Amino acid sequence: MKHFTQFESTSLAEELIEKAMYYKNTPLASPEKGKGKRLGLIFLNPSLRTRVSTQIAASNLGIESIVLNMDKEGWALEMQDGAVMNKTTVEHIKDAAAVLGSYFDFLAIRAFPSLTNKTEDTDDFTINQFIKYAGLPVVSLESAIRHPLQSLADMVTIRENLSGKKKPKVVLTWAPHIKAIPHAVANSFAEWTLGCNYDLTITHPEGYELDEKFTQGATIEHNQERALADADFVYVKNWSAFHPYGKIIQVNQPWLLTEEKLKNSPEAKVMHCLPVRRNLELSDEILDGPRSLVQQQAKNRIFAAQAVLDKLIS
Ligand code: CP
Repeated sequence: MKHFTQFESTSLAEELIEKAMYYKNTPLASPEKGKGKRLGLIFLNPSLRTRVSTQIAASNLGIESIVLNMDKEGWALEMQDGAVMNKTTVEHIKDAAAVLGSYFDFLAIRAFPSLTNKTEDTDDFTINQFIKYAGLPVVSLESAIRHPLQSLADMVTIRENLSGKKKPKVVLTWAPHIKAIPHAVANSFAEWTLGCNYDLTITHPEGYELDEKFTQGATIEHNQERALADADFVYVKNWSAFHPYGKIIQVNQPWLLTEEKLKNSPEAKVMHCLPVRRNLELSDEILDGPRSLVQQQAKNRIFAAQAVLDKLIS
């Protein structure tokens, strides 16, 4: 594994899940493994879980981590090759990434999509510019199209709650939101769920189809009630439209997940990556009830990151 930016293979996912579960039992099993290594955590966008869990993971392995909130503390970056920098950008990614590459042993980057330039976003342009110019192993802390550390933590959480099932029914259900939200969590969740050979149904209002490259192999069901029947895991997430790109399409049906909607899936556990807008995306009764795995998912972010850093050191 050179970088950690996406699902690579079922065998690697399995290895990382096992390692994450091992570190969950014994977080300080290898406190010197990363001694002398330095991790740069570069945030172009806000974070709570990703930032703190990755720092704890690094600390558990003896890795020094330094956070740079580029959006608030760094220079405004120019991303385009050959740009004449006579506007607002101050430093070219070519220079900034090369400097960071000389300071660190690994870089981890959060770079959300613009949701206005579909080509750049779907090419994952920003994180790929860092990879191109830093010359180091890069970990995605959520890119324009994927959130692999979240998905690895989600797969660990599913594994912990399988109750003996080999092929659980997993449902990814669209949720309402007031803002245009990226596709990264939904894309990655589909990629990893299918990669782990689980049975995936995706339900969303018509018009909210995800990029097909991430959903091939999933069942698409526009009727939410039918999709949810007999589910073992229900993952709740909003995303904006992919066609037309980054837009919000008016939806007239109620898509908020409630206990009533889960009446035909008594065993279903409910997941969300957080942050969640309560009673808009997901109801209090579910979030605060026995079905909710959201806190377990958030805790597992530490051990997912620890497994990934361990693998990169190895
Ligand atoms: N789930 C997640 O990535 O949370 P943050 O945006 O707070 O890091």
